[in-house]
Amino acid sequence: MKNRLVLKFFSAFSVLILIIVFVLNFFISLRLREHFEQKISAELKSNAVLVADILEKNLAEGKFEEIQQKTSQLANKLDLRITVIDKDGRILGDSEQQPSLMANHSDRLEVTEAIKNGFGQSTHFSDTLGINMKYVAVRVDQSDRILGVVRFALPLSRVQPEIRIIYRVVLFGTIAAVVIAMIVAYFISRSIILPIRQVKETAQQIAKGDFSKRVRIKNKGELGELAESLNTMADELQQKMENLRRLDRVRTDFVANVSHELKTPLTLIKGYIETLQNKAINDKAKLSKFISIIKEHSDRLGYIIDDLLSLSELELSRDCVNRTELDLQEVIEEISLGFEQALAEKKQSLTVSTHGDSFSIQADRNKIEQVFANLIDNSIKYTKEFGRIEISLREQDQMVCVTVGDNGIGIPKEHRDRVFERFYRVDKARSRELGGTGLGLSIVKHIVLAHNGKISIESELDRGTKVSVTFPRN
Ligand SMILES: Nc1ncnc2c1ncn2[C@@H]1O[C@H](COP(=O)(O)OP(=O)(O)OP(=O)(O)O)[C@@H](O)[C@H]1O
Ligand SMILES: [Mg+2]
Repeated sequence: MKNRLVLKFFSAFSVLILIIVFVLNFFISLRLREHFEQKISAELKSNAVLVADILEKNLAEGKFEEIQQKTSQLANKLDLRITVIDKDGRILGDSEQQPSLMANHSDRLEVTEAIKNGFGQSTHFSDTLGINMKYVAVRVDQSDRILGVVRFALPLSRVQPEIRIIYRVVLFGTIAAVVIAMIVAYFISRSIILPIRQVKETAQQIAKGDFSKRVRIKNKGELGELAESLNTMADELQQKMENLRRLDRVRTDFVANVSHELKTPLTLIKGYIETLQNKAINDKAKLSKFISIIKEHSDRLGYIIDDLLSLSELELSRDCVNRTELDLQEVIEEISLGFEQALAEKKQSLTVSTHGDSFSIQADRNKIEQVFANLIDNSIKYTKEFGRIEISLREQDQMVCVTVGDNGIGIPKEHRDRVFERFYRVDKARSRELGGTGLGLSIVKHIVLAHNGKISIESELDRGTKVSVTFPRN
């Protein structure tokens, strides 16, 4: 049942509409009836006053025959029953009946009221005519003397059809109002429920794992906000899922890479040992050559494991930095000295320039040395002979920025963002040949982040590379 909620809303609206309309209808009908009856009474009264005026003289003089005659004539013209009664209730004239045959009317409500207040009215059964009538009576006075009462009577059966017409008009109005209100209620229910249903369906699909689903509601107010929140939540979930997937991929890649990197030197070591076991053990020259190769590969294994250990140490906790005050210029110049041999071999130059006065920061000396050793090592490795390596230190507000630049082979654009990943190398074979594992920049990045610093790389193929690291002063 897809439209269950719409139906619920619609039914609730309908009940409300029906209650309101019928209560209104009841009061309107009542009020209209009252108004109509008052109008009839007022008309009867003004006519009765006129007739009373006409009959006043005859009453004063006691001319009963004339009274009876005029009563009949006037009643005929007005199409009403007219009764003339004296102050004691005796009938002096009546348009419908012989006065002598009629009972004393002093007990009639409208008559007593008229004698007392000048005007009276009531609705009751007429003994004379045997039907329900509406009566209106006015007193006829001369100076202070009460002469009698003129009474008008209208059969209720003449009033009721008109009231019924009023009822019918009100009823039709009511039905039209109900129909229109229900149509409007249906569309309002739909306009409220449809977006809610859309939100619900989207939420269900997101719950099932389809994070690409979004709600399209242009509605302002709470519903729009709800849809927006749901969309934001879906965005975040999607982002998180992508991150998780990426992390998972990185982790599997990492395990594969570690195994591979460790396996290569191990296989080589095993191969040399086996050769030695077979026969080479007796060949002195080969023996010492093989042993030095085996040592070289086990050293490599050691480096890789050291690198992996410092990476996981950095990843596990940032508290592994032992901060002391150190002068970056001094550290860099000292590190550069260690590369003199390597620079000389490739006939490369290294210069250090400074812009500012003080380059002291709070940092872990060993780790900062690792950062610059790695960056200088990269620049030497990936720059051809006669290349230039330039290190510049700059003071920037509360930061110290160091750039290690070279005019080497550069990094193709598509690799630039990935060189900080563990084991990532642009040219695997070449890098391995140069002794690289692809862990260097990854370690550098982790150390910089552990010092709340920033790292960025700019590079152009065949032009050179610039790695900038920024450390906060404290
Ligand atoms: N200055 C540079 N110029 C050109 N390419 C570079 C430079 N620095 C890094 N790269 C590229 O980025 C890759 C990753 O560098 P990274 O320092 O992490 O690893 P590596 O130098 O290959 O090995 P390791 O530093 O572990 O000995 C390198 O393999 C190289 O392709
Ligand atoms: Mg490196």
